[in-house]
Amino acid sequence: MKKAGRRAGWLFLWMCMVFLAAGCKEAGKDEKKSVRIGVSLYRGDDTFINNIRGELETCAKEYEQKHGVKVTLDIQDAKGSQNTQNNQVERFISLGCDVMCINPVDRTAASALIDKAMTAGIPVVFFNRQPVEEDMDRWDQLYYVGAVAKESAVLQGSIVVDQYRKDPESLDINGDGVVSYVLLEGESSHQDSLIRTEWSIQTLKDGGVPIEKITGGIANWERSQASALMEQWLEQYPDTIELVVCNNDDMALGAIDALERAGTGKINLVGIDATTPGLEAVRSGKLMGTVSSDKEQYAGAIFSIAAAKALGQAVPRELSLEDGKYYWSPQEIVTGP
Ligand code: GAL
Repeated sequence: MKKAGRRAGWLFLWMCMVFLAAGCKEAGKDEKKSVRIGVSLYRGDDTFINNIRGELETCAKEYEQKHGVKVTLDIQDAKGSQNTQNNQVERFISLGCDVMCINPVDRTAASALIDKAMTAGIPVVFFNRQPVEEDMDRWDQLYYVGAVAKESAVLQGSIVVDQYRKDPESLDINGDGVVSYVLLEGESSHQDSLIRTEWSIQTLKDGGVPIEKITGGIANWERSQASALMEQWLEQYPDTIELVVCNNDDMALGAIDALERAGTGKINLVGIDATTPGLEAVRSGKLMGTVSSDKEQYAGAIFSIAAAKALGQAVPRELSLEDGKYYWSPQEIVTGP
């Protein structure tokens, strides 16, 4: 009898503790009414990154309204310096950020940032410049949001293939049976540049477009660098270039600037990104087409992972992260006008 009474007493105590623990957890959840998110951009003057930044700010405002949680987005520009970015990360940690969103300057140097984040116990959402796999596998609180480079390239190539099938003369402007092209490439150290270059050209070949490369060069995603290269090529190869394949929209816009300065007749150009000025160029017929990485979803994914981690919650299931850490933003072709 006595033993049974003692057992009942223990059971009661245990149940009380379970309820109490659950209550505390609930109360803790309710208490977190503000989150601080540190964001470091590899270069704030990069058009695509700027578009993502704008979307992130919108996400933060919408989240505040919907969930009543105050969001402090501390956005910093690393201005192309890994050293500056390392200092920004240290500052985020000292300010007590709940989570960090990092667009690494040097994607191969993410390890030092990961060390700092792990020591401080702050989850990280990397985006756009993908750290190497060994780094991403170092901790289960590391995430990556980006777009599949091969997919962007295949979509870009298919814009040209479709056009060639519809109207070959519009691409083979001089009617010599080949489409002579030049190539504008992004940073040589960026995972997207090499893959985009390889697969857009492969797609043209696979699609039966007779192509011949005139020349190519690295313009580091930048409009002004692309413009200078294109100006030089127009002088070197007058009346020869029929197609300009560009790893991104900004370089395509730079090439268009050079074409306009030189007063050259119509040449076809394709880009990737669907940035705001890129879309404008498609609409006005200056750019044959581009590939859109849905920026709302791209930034939406960065923000949802960050907000969930900041509040100590699980990442929303609907993001269906690959290997539990990678989110690939959907892409589509944009042609016009
Ligand atoms: C690429 C994008 C480029 C540039 C680069 C920066 O994905 O297409 O325009 O923003 O990222 O890392």
